[in-house]
Amino acid sequence: LVSGPGRGMASLPAETRLVVDKHVRYIQSLDTRKDELEYWLTEHLRLNGLYWGMTALHLLGHPDALPREGILKFVFSCLHESGGFGAAPGHDAHMLYTCSAVQIIATLDAFDELEAHMEDGRRKIGQWIASLQDTATGTFAGDEWGEKDTRFLFNAFLSLSLMGLLDLVNVDKAVQHVNSCVNFDGAYGTSPGAESHSGQVYTCVGALTIAGRLDLVNQEKLGAWLSERQLKNGGLNGRPEKTEDVCYSWWVMSSLAMINKLHWIDGEKLTAFILGCQDPDLGGLSDRPGDMVDVFHTHFGIAGLSLLKYPGLAEVDPVYCMPRDVVQRCLRK
Ligand code: FPP
Ligand code: ZN
Repeated sequence: LVSGPGRGMASLPAETRLVVDKHVRYIQSLDTRKDELEYWLTEHLRLNGLYWGMTALHLLGHPDALPREGILKFVFSCLHESGGFGAAPGHDAHMLYTCSAVQIIATLDAFDELEAHMEDGRRKIGQWIASLQDTATGTFAGDEWGEKDTRFLFNAFLSLSLMGLLDLVNVDKAVQHVNSCVNFDGAYGTSPGAESHSGQVYTCVGALTIAGRLDLVNQEKLGAWLSERQLKNGGLNGRPEKTEDVCYSWWVMSSLAMINKLHWIDGEKLTAFILGCQDPDLGGLSDRPGDMVDVFHTHFGIAGLSLLKYPGLAEVDPVYCMPRDVVQRCLRK
């Protein structure tokens, strides 16, 4: 019924192991369910969904479980002449999908194929991203309509650094903006004065890590705020007084990892919480035990287990949320 490495986990009952093969089959099945309403209701997330599913498969040690050519064909069909990507063919370009597209292309080592599909494709993507920087404040919009958020600033830094094109933007000005989003508790919000939220902590600390400016972070204070996100049931919440959710295993733990304080939470209790969110029969993980699974929580749950060094998983990079060997290959170039 279950599969998984077993090494170091011998004392756990079988149902609390990671059901690797079930998760692989769950992710493979996502694209074959086109007759279900849910498939079409989530069309606005398609490129994000592909990044989540594909990355989870890489971390699970099954990188070839989805067809490389089919993935790239879909990704390139979402690319506009402007250099931005939409969520699906015909959708408007947006930073969130452009970042997922760059992450997928990087993971598949497919920048040559990108150039074959669009002349000077890498630079066009970089310039489209750079065009969204607000020259007055240093932050970034998500698209031409101008909503601004530190998520988009982080997406810009992540994508540009993977392509070696960070010099297309004003890094110092963006860093100043991130620094202006810090609150009295040491954590960060979407914009100056906005409430602290661990998703936003991930994006702000991630951007500062890429910029080499972790010296600006009050690491003791932030580490304390992040470690207080763990609840009695082992799960992590995103803000004080909120309920636990598997995706916060990622937003909180990755931030702790970037400031070298991952040991400030109870990893064993969190591992048990995440494993308890699996559908042991059909695969996939949900936000909390007993809920419906989805590919978003499946990906962030597995990425969280990778940070927790769950046996048999490939190592995830806490900043890029991609396999660590892929990130190292890209940054060396
Ligand atoms: C919480 O979302 C999460 C965030 C605000 C962070 C989102 C980060 C990105 C989109 C950056 C890209 C990410 C990666 C991994 C490359 P929520 O709206 O679910 O918050 P809620 O739980 O408070 O509703
Ligand atoms: Zn969630």
